[in-house]
Amino acid sequence: MTSTRTRIPVILDCDPGHDDALAITLALARPELDVLGITTIGGNSTLANTTRNALRVLALLGRTDVPVAAGPDQPLVRPLETAPEVHGVSGLDGADLPEPASEPRPEGALEFLRATLAASPSPVTLIPVGPLTNIGLLLRTYPAIAEKIAGISLMGGAMGAGNWTPAAEFNIWVDPEAARIVFRSGLPITMHGLDVTHKALMGLPEADRLDAVGTRVGHVFADLLRFFTRFHVEKYGTDQTPIHDAVAVAHVALPGLVTTRRYHVDVETNGDITRGRTVVDDRGHPGEPPNVDVALDIDRAAF
Ligand code: BDR
Ligand code: CA
Repeated sequence: MTSTRTRIPVILDCDPGHDDALAITLALARPELDVLGITTIGGNSTLANTTRNALRVLALLGRTDVPVAAGPDQPLVRPLETAPEVHGVSGLDGADLPEPASEPRPEGALEFLRATLAASPSPVTLIPVGPLTNIGLLLRTYPAIAEKIAGISLMGGAMGAGNWTPAAEFNIWVDPEAARIVFRSGLPITMHGLDVTHKALMGLPEADRLDAVGTRVGHVFADLLRFFTRFHVEKYGTDQTPIHDAVAVAHVALPGLVTTRRYHVDVETNGDITRGRTVVDDRGHPGEPPNVDVALDIDRAAF
């Protein structure tokens, strides 16, 4: 087991969400990672629901020691759009999760992030797997704190087609202004977009394997996976479900699992039909210098 001294300090920023719940669980399970806290944002469901869901997952895992801090209840400049057709009205439908057994931190996500980063002896890796509101707000409000951020391993965007619109992936669509702040920050960024997460698949056989573990956690995640898979069967005609958010966690714990290539990436905020597009400069001749490692492939069996 990796010793405490060599563990990578991370903060997970999420909107649980079925794949967010798996990302939380993976982050807490991996010995390489030291989860300093979880921040929440509205996205898959309202902020109240995503925060409650994060606390319910921690109650399930017996990890109520992990601090949770909630962000603002709206994106930076737009009204919140949620995805009940994907994740159900609660944001985490389909399984029997316990009620929260801890409370969110009173100071909220912005101050929690600032204070936790400032107090960390070594720079912290941020893992945002929802709309980028909290991270955009942090960088806008406290730009000097960037020196305490080792890098950002995010789930969002796509080099190819979007999923919420033809142009946009959901997380970037919900708060493109925040995403633009993050992508223009100059910080080391790995973007796990749909190009790679649609190769990080699980489905009904994996749900059966989770059930076979025979624990309550295994049964809950089997049920969550079956619920999440049902949407993908109806929408895409496939019983293979992308476990988007866990990819951004897995990449930090296991470098080499994901294959990346460097590109310049920026975010469209105003396009009539392209709002939320991550514009990846793949022209093959010099433009703006590359600023993002774009994930393109994954060792699925290892994942
Ligand atoms: C992203 O949107 C949400 O539905 C998922 O949790 C993931 O973060 C995929 O587009
Ligand atoms: Ca998410």
